[in-house]
Amino acid sequence: MHKHHRALGLATAPIGTAVVSGAAEIAKLKPVQPVTLLRPHAAQRAARFFTEKFPGRSLYAVKANPSPDLLEVLWDAGVTHYDVASIGEVRLVAGTLPGATLCFMHPVKAEEAIAEAYFQHGVRTFSLDTLEELEKIVAATSTNGVAASDLNLLVRLRVSSEHAKLSLASKFGAAPDELKSLLMATRQAADALGLCFHVGSQAMSPAAYAEAMSRVRDAIVEAAVTVDIVDVGGGFPSAYPGMEPPALETYFAVIHEAFEKLPISYSAELWCEPGRALCAEYASVLVRVEKRRGDELYINDGAYGTLFDAAHIGWRFPVELVREPESDVRDMGFSFYGPTCDDLDHMVGPFELPGDVQAGDYIEIGMLGAYGSAMRTGFNGFGSATATSVIVTDEPMASLYGAPSREANRSNVVQL
Ligand SMILES: Cc1ncc(COP(=O)(O)O)c(C=O)c1O
Repeated sequence: MHKHHRALGLATAPIGTAVVSGAAEIAKLKPVQPVTLLRPHAAQRAARFFTEKFPGRSLYAVKANPSPDLLEVLWDAGVTHYDVASIGEVRLVAGTLPGATLCFMHPVKAEEAIAEAYFQHGVRTFSLDTLEELEKIVAATSTNGVAASDLNLLVRLRVSSEHAKLSLASKFGAAPDELKSLLMATRQAADALGLCFHVGSQAMSPAAYAEAMSRVRDAIVEAAVTVDIVDVGGGFPSAYPGMEPPALETYFAVIHEAFEKLPISYSAELWCEPGRALCAEYASVLVRVEKRRGDELYINDGAYGTLFDAAHIGWRFPVELVREPESDVRDMGFSFYGPTCDDLDHMVGPFELPGDVQAGDYIEIGMLGAYGSAMRTGFNGFGSATATSVIVTDEPMASLYGAPSREANRSNVVQL
C-alpha cells in the first residue's frame, strides 16, 4: 500500500498511516521536517524473542518509548506486563491496553500517584528502596486505616553499572547495610515479596547480571526472608556502531543459571524489564542536511529532538545517505549540528557518510526507537511530539534478532 501525503514534510499524515518500503521513498518527497520511520515488524520480532526465550516474564519498560502504537504491537506480540514509572505512564498504558498488568517500578513515588494507581488503575506491584517509601505505599493503599493485603512489593538493590554504557548505580537502590531490615519490614507488608535491580542501560556483558544476582543471593541469605519474585530489570543491549554485544541468549542463560541457584521457593517468579532491547530497532529518523561546513553537517533534528543520546553521551547511531543513484565517494567521519541556536545542539559522532554529502541530501539515522522519539521536545520551534511518522517495511540498520542485513537484501535484488 502506498499512501503519500503532501510532499512538503508529509505534513498531514497521522502517525503510522503511511506504509512505504523504506527511507528512499520518503526522501523522494523532499520532506522539510524530520520523518520518523517506524518498523512494527521489528518491535514484534523483539517482543516475541523475549516472550519465547527469556526464562521468565518480560515487562516492557514504557519510558524507553511510550508510543501507543508501539504498546499495541508489544501487546499483540504477547507482552502482558508493563513497567511504568510515573502516573502519566500508568494512565497511558491503562488507557491504551486495558487488559495489561502494570507494575509501578519507580522507587520514589508521590503518595497521590500510588493511591491513584492502586485504587483507580488496579496496580498491585510497586518497587521501593527505603523504609519511608514502604510506609508511603502502605499508607496510600490502606482503606479506612486497614492495610492492603494484596501488594507485590519489590525491594530495589543498588548494584554496579560497571558493564553498562549508561550508569544507573547512583540514584536508586538500597545499600547492603540497609537491606536486611528493609527486606524484613517489606515482607510483613507484602503479599508477594520481590527483589529487583538495574545493572545500567546497554549492559555489554552478561556478567553484569551474574554479579547482581550474587548480591541478591547475599541479601536473601542475610535477611532470611521468603522471596517470591526476582526481577533482573532492564539493561539488555541493542547493537550500535562500536557497541556490538554478545547474543541475548547468553544473557538469558547466565540469568537462568543464577536464578536456579538462589535460595528461593520453587514457585518464585523471574522477571525482567527490558526497555531499549524491545524498541531500539522500532524506529529510525530521516533528516535533511541544511548546510555543510567541512566535516560538519547541519541537520534538521538534534539534541532537543530524537538525538539526545548522540549529543549528551556521545552515542554513535548508524547512518546512511539516502540518495539515488548511490554515492560512490569514500566514507569519511562527520559530526552533526542540530537545528537550534546553541552549541549544545551538537552530535560529535563521528558518523561515517560518503565524502560528497551536501545540503539537500537526506540521511537515515537508525536505531532510534529507544530513548529517541521519547526525548523529543519542541524547543526553539523545532520538532514536536506529534512529528510525522510512516511505517516502513524494510529492516532496521542493525538487529539482535536475526533480521536479514540490509546489505544482504540489496545484493539479492535483481536489477532489470
Ligand atoms: C526501573 C527500570 N526498569 C527498566 C528500565 C529499562 O532499561 P533499559 O532500557 O536499559 O532496558 C529502566 C531504565 O531506566 C528503569 O529505570
